[in-house]
Amino acid sequence: MKKRMIVGNWKMNPITLEEAKRLFKSIKRVAEKLKSVTVVVCPPYIYIPALLNTRSEFQISIGAQDIYFEGQGSFTGEVSALMLKDLGVGYVIIGHSERREMGETDESVAKKVQALFELGMCPILCIGEKIRDDSGSHLEFLKNQIKNSLNKVSKKHIGKLIIAYEPVWAIGAKKAMEPENIYEMSIFIRKVLVDMYGYDEAVSTPVLYGGAVNFRNATEIFSKGQIDGLLVGRESVNSTGFAELLKAVDVS
Ligand code: PGA
Repeated sequence: MKKRMIVGNWKMNPITLEEAKRLFKSIKRVAEKLKSVTVVVCPPYIYIPALLNTRSEFQISIGAQDIYFEGQGSFTGEVSALMLKDLGVGYVIIGHSERREMGETDESVAKKVQALFELGMCPILCIGEKIRDDSGSHLEFLKNQIKNSLNKVSKKHIGKLIIAYEPVWAIGAKKAMEPENIYEMSIFIRKVLVDMYGYDEAVSTPVLYGGAVNFRNATEIFSKGQIDGLLVGRESVNSTGFAELLKAVDVS
């Protein structure tokens, strides 16, 4: 069975290195015992080196929350994929809706995704509509978002792609999307990928769901939503809730 992937997006939390270490240690303790789950934790950049030092590679991976698409140079405040790769980071969240809100565009997303592929790293490409109505315009929106975000990517790189479908209205909300709707959306996303890259590539691309996931709804989202993993925000910085979530979805 393909392993389920759980990605924790810590966002701009916690506020001290001590807390970050404590949280990471508690996740590691649970991750060590999991049989069918790959855990990726994405902390703020500043904690990455310290957390990497306490990690053993097979239990848990560390990802970042963004990159700049250039490798190095005069780009004040930015961090490149090359720098992260050098540290041992393999995954990077790209195009999160909170970054899109700050000015990220499909064009910059496409450059970032390509920069990661060139280094053999895995982008966790976030896509998702802001609104959803009966006319189905969100489907057209999503299709364009996928096409534009991957417009520089050739078939040979696509094996490293991870898609995180996060309807923007569900992020930070009380309630996640209904699992039946998640199922529909995952089929739609795969159909777009089939049209772009062919059947084999599309079915092997992991599609994750994100938005108001917690330890209570995670198993139902897997069973009815038919997705390959979860991108978890708030619950990933709650050590008890995240531990419960990891244990709940670890089915063999
Ligand atoms: P949430 O955030 O789980 O807190 O809704 C998800 C995300 O932003 O990736």
